[in-house]
Amino acid sequence: MSRKEAAEEHARLAAEIAAHDIAYHQEDAPKISDADYDKLRLRLLELEKQYPTLAKNSVSQKVGAAPSGKFAKVKHAVPMLSLANAFADEEVGEFLARMKRFLGMAESAELAVTAEPKIDGLSMSLRYEHRKLVQAATRGDGAEGENVTANILTIKDIPHTLPASAPELIEVRGEVYMSNADFRALNERLAAEGEKPLANPRNGAAGSLRQQDVSVTASRPLKFFAYAWGEAPHLPADTQWGVVQAFKAWGLPVNPLMVLCKSDEELLAHYHKIEAMRAELPYDIDGVVYKLNDLALQQRLGFVSRSPRWAIAHKFSAEQATTVLEAIDIQVGRTGALTPVARLKPVTVGGVVVSNATLHNEDEIARKDVRVGDTVIIQRAGDVIPQIVGVAHRGEGAVPYQFPHVCPACGSHAEREDRGGGKADAVRRCAGGLICPAQRVERLKHFASRNAFDIEGLGDKIVHEFYEEGLIAAPQDIFTLQARDARSTKKLATREGWGESSVANLFAAIEARREIALDRFIFALGIRHIGETTARVLARHYHSAEHLRDQMKLAAATPENDARHELGAIDGIGDIVAEAVIEFFDEPHNLEIYDALLAQVRPQALEAVATSSPVVGKTVVFTGALERMTREEAKAMAERLGAKVAGSVSKKTDLLVAGPGAGSKLKDAEKHGVKVIDEAGWFELVGQQ
Ligand code: IVH
Repeated sequence: MSRKEAAEEHARLAAEIAAHDIAYHQEDAPKISDADYDKLRLRLLELEKQYPTLAKNSVSQKVGAAPSGKFAKVKHAVPMLSLANAFADEEVGEFLARMKRFLGMAESAELAVTAEPKIDGLSMSLRYEHRKLVQAATRGDGAEGENVTANILTIKDIPHTLPASAPELIEVRGEVYMSNADFRALNERLAAEGEKPLANPRNGAAGSLRQQDVSVTASRPLKFFAYAWGEAPHLPADTQWGVVQAFKAWGLPVNPLMVLCKSDEELLAHYHKIEAMRAELPYDIDGVVYKLNDLALQQRLGFVSRSPRWAIAHKFSAEQATTVLEAIDIQVGRTGALTPVARLKPVTVGGVVVSNATLHNEDEIARKDVRVGDTVIIQRAGDVIPQIVGVAHRGEGAVPYQFPHVCPACGSHAEREDRGGGKADAVRRCAGGLICPAQRVERLKHFASRNAFDIEGLGDKIVHEFYEEGLIAAPQDIFTLQARDARSTKKLATREGWGESSVANLFAAIEARREIALDRFIFALGIRHIGETTARVLARHYHSAEHLRDQMKLAAATPENDARHELGAIDGIGDIVAEAVIEFFDEPHNLEIYDALLAQVRPQALEAVATSSPVVGKTVVFTGALERMTREEAKAMAERLGAKVAGSVSKKTDLLVAGPGAGSKLKDAEKHGVKVIDEAGWFELVGQQ
């Protein structure tokens, strides 16, 4: 695969993953199965392994999605990270071997590793200062979460104070969850009150916790397991096991199924034991987590992108069931993508009633030859929209499914783009662009959504209604709503279910967004392939909405020019993204909207990224024998500190770290006048003795 192809696939995957992150973390409404999500991430990592520059600014470096805005934000003192996944048993041995290699240990060396259930809840960071619980925060995007202290204080499982044996400051991390029995009881109660039932215990826990009205949280039986920590200057032990035992001694609930193992055989034995117990456990789990026991070694191993090298989640395989495929509906997305959705005869899979499943795309339907009327095998992993694995029995008289070639929303032709080399894109798209009502309304929803303009009170449903009623046709109309409402005889406040205060709140929320960060502004435009990360890259590079527009107009003017070249040379902007941005600004109607928006809102330039590492942006080469770390470890450390690690010395090299036995690279460094230091000098320079 060429770099260009890889970059294209990477951009597609990144956009898809970012959308799923939002659906899962912010809307508590995942759209695909965990297993499918993991597959997307796995493929992304594969591409990044092949072409490491793709990892820059990639979603692979991010955990989840930014907080939703309902609660105050909390910056995590130590990021809350995620775990890499393993699916096959063989991967467990590989995980151990990888750690030993990184640490320069013999293959036969023994490593102690803990194994414990992976709880299907939501992660929480509990900050105890002077042994009092002072703050509780959700994970959010890993860097910043939501302050849910008041809600957490209602959970009986969680102590408000720690005993004298606990340190002055510690952030205890773990999982908030709802037991299966409590979940069933809650759903019965909701049904009795005429409310919508929740899909599963994880959503039950998330929904119960993220309540503005704390008394609602208090009425929901939530529980907690402690299994990790964040900021903790004085840990009570030097092993994973020891710290968790201390948590237990302090009165924090810890999972009773944690064991300490010495080999992959022992880990797998525990995995299969827990897997066999799964159905009987009082709470949902979706795998087993393995963590290296020795904390000093954990420290040396560090992190790669969003997960630690010293831990892994070994997931269980998904649960399956069969049911009848009653219909295939086509949904039209913001970028015109036609997405097939399977409507199923409702069936229970792993305790959840399922009536919709994803069919991905046209090829997927053809490959599996799924037909309306067939009995299909559906699979559900975790708590997300299930997928169709294949056909169990052919339905009587079922005919092959014909994917529509016209858009069901506007009747425009729908086509599959050429991905180069005669390969068609997997997605069929409506060519109607802005004349397609489905695309227009989806774009508006996107514009007002959480990670874009984040207009409270202007959720998908209201956007849809306003669009249908002709109140907003394009994004700029949102900002003239109030003025138009003042003149109108059909006031918003007279809508059913609305009143003066809800309208005032909506107008206030809109007013509050007239000043908006430039990256959100760019992201909100809904340009194809421009996710939050790329929007940020563009915002950092072009600084103002006007400059971006002017440069893109220049770029669009001719096939070869400086502006085009400048865009293409930005780190993190591949060919596909560059083309998409230029195409957007080459469309007069888009420019019209852009300028109309700029008459209403004031996008703000982003602050520069401040970083304090002495090697940030420097190119470093390691050579010769290193004693305190393996080469891989050295490279990871340098990258963590913002340096680029190169394999050979050139005049672009800033620093050569040379151990005993260094040869030709040392000579090259002398030739180019590159600064040379030894391993001790490196540790001194980066301030880690
Ligand atoms: S350890 C730095 N242990 O799984 C590693 N996580 O997929 C911190 N989870 O964000 C996580 N049970 O919300 C760990 N026993 C367990 C867990 C667990 C559930 C969740 C946690 C984490 C996610 C990663």
